[in-house]
Amino acid sequence: MPALPLRSLMELNSAVAREDFPMSQATTWGTGGPAFLVDVLTMPALLEVLSVAEGSGARCVVLGNCSDVLICDDGVEGLCIRLTGDFTDIAIEGNSLRVGAGASLPSIATFAAKNGLAGLEFLSGIPGTSGGAVATNAGAFGSTTAGALASLEAVDLSGETKTVGAFKDAYRDSLVEPGLIVTSIRFDLISSSKKTVKEEMARQRALRAGSQPVGARTAGSVFKNPPGQSAGRLIDECGLKGAGVGGARVSDIHANFILNIGGATSADILELMRLVRDRVSRVYGIRLEPEVRLLGFEREAL
Ligand code: EPU
Repeated sequence: MPALPLRSLMELNSAVAREDFPMSQATTWGTGGPAFLVDVLTMPALLEVLSVAEGSGARCVVLGNCSDVLICDDGVEGLCIRLTGDFTDIAIEGNSLRVGAGASLPSIATFAAKNGLAGLEFLSGIPGTSGGAVATNAGAFGSTTAGALASLEAVDLSGETKTVGAFKDAYRDSLVEPGLIVTSIRFDLISSSKKTVKEEMARQRALRAGSQPVGARTAGSVFKNPPGQSAGRLIDECGLKGAGVGGARVSDIHANFILNIGGATSADILELMRLVRDRVSRVYGIRLEPEVRLLGFEREAL
């Protein structure tokens, strides 16, 4: 059978495919150029999409809520996939939650709280998806995704399904090997009271609201914390709060956040990241590594 072109994805039933979709409409930074974006609603549709991508030689990038990515203004080549529809399901199984990889972290945390299950309170203020949390080992306030994860289901790029049950809890590092697309996740939780879980969620939200620019156009922490150090403190101590390039500014509230204050491009943000990284390197001799994922750039863009 001849390879189907990516455009054939537009004919799929349980998927919504768009060519040249402006990724600035998808990213929390509000920046990024065009991509071939397909929102997939069911497992059979995902397998179909992967088969078309493989046949046409297109590279696949799976995205969550685009809250931790910097997408090049020139766009991304290949196929960007988001998991939605069935992949946003959340179900309770005893003291565990089974969640689709496209389910949003705040909705998972709220669901757990409503069912009196403790352990996912830290997810409530992270504007991502569960698949994204696995891909970055998202964490906050002493908890990590790896810490609550029991097992996950994934497919590889050839469409073969796998179950993974052992994970390395590495700081802000993917919990699955490259080439695996996480489709569903099981979190093992602790039975508690709704009130206790909700109070802990509220406590963490308040901590976040007091220390981070919540509600602004950001991608969370821009750089990883170097071992034993805080990237935010290092950037702050270099006097960089308020520093800017174009429409990008270092937050006055938390120096490891970069805001799009209006009209920023990804090039502005990247330039500001370089400025920050170079200043911290000159002053402290510490090289900051990006926490955000750079997509569509040359390998050594930063
Ligand atoms: N600090 C400053 N100036 C600043 C910012 C921070 O001096 O501008 C100081 C704080 O006073 C504190 C220390 O640096 O003493 C650490 O700051 P904070 O408590 O805000 O935590 P963080 O290490 O900067 C990490 C995660 C966040 C997570 C918070 C809360 C990283 C890179 N960031 O931030 O995760 O929400 O802890 O647990 O690990 C994210 O990953 O996107 C993210 C926001």
